[in-house]
Amino acid sequence: MTGLFITLEGPEGAGKSTNREYLAERLRKAGCSVVLTREPGGTPLAERIRELLLTPAEEAMAVDTELLLVFAARAQHLTGVIRPALAQGSIVLCDRFTDATYAYQGGGRAMDIDRIALLETFVQGELRPDLTLLFDLPVDIGLSRAAARGRLDRFEQEKREFFEAVRRTYLMRAEAAPARYRVLDAAQPLASVQAALDGLVPSILERARG
Ligand SMILES: Nc1ncnc2c1ncn2[C@@H]1O[C@H](COP(=O)(O)OP(=O)(O)O)[C@@H](O)[C@H]1O
Ligand SMILES: [Mg+2]
Repeated sequence: MTGLFITLEGPEGAGKSTNREYLAERLRKAGCSVVLTREPGGTPLAERIRELLLTPAEEAMAVDTELLLVFAARAQHLTGVIRPALAQGSIVLCDRFTDATYAYQGGGRAMDIDRIALLETFVQGELRPDLTLLFDLPVDIGLSRAAARGRLDRFEQEKREFFEAVRRTYLMRAEAAPARYRVLDAAQPLASVQAALDGLVPSILERARG
């Protein structure tokens, strides 16, 4: 078996965490070794960087600081978790990765995409996800699901246009590289989303078995 790097993307409330568990269960039942992780975070140090990124604070965070912290956490995560798991032949299911940087910092914050691409290569080298599941849903639905969970983090406090730009950027990236992405309609009932995931399992198993 060769490792397979699968990322789950989409806004808060899209169902990434719920469906990551579901997919992991399906793949484990089929005999795969599955590693679940998330960004920002995934190691103790990277989780501390996550806290810096998500906790609202008095001092406004410069956009460059935010971008560098995201990639600093990613460097730690790649070294400590993702690369070792792939080297052992595991399927890595990662809740958010660099597509989220393009969507939130590139789309939401309107940062220069070329600078993101530069850091992507600097930190990841050639490594890119093998498959990205994009959980797409209208901004209002995502915001109301996230709000139902309670206190809003530093990103969730952003304005509506921010989330519209996040969604647009995700969809544009998926359209530009259809071989890597599967776009799931996350506004559908959970059972429908999971039926769509079931449909992807055979091809994932085939790729994982090389
Ligand atoms: N397709 C769906 N329809 C309705 N509610 C959903 C659906 N998917 C997830 N949820 C609910 O929305 C909330 C957010 O889901 P979660 O998996 O935590 O999303 P994310 O990790 O993308 O923020 C949870 O309460 C979850 O049960
Ligand atoms: Mg989640």
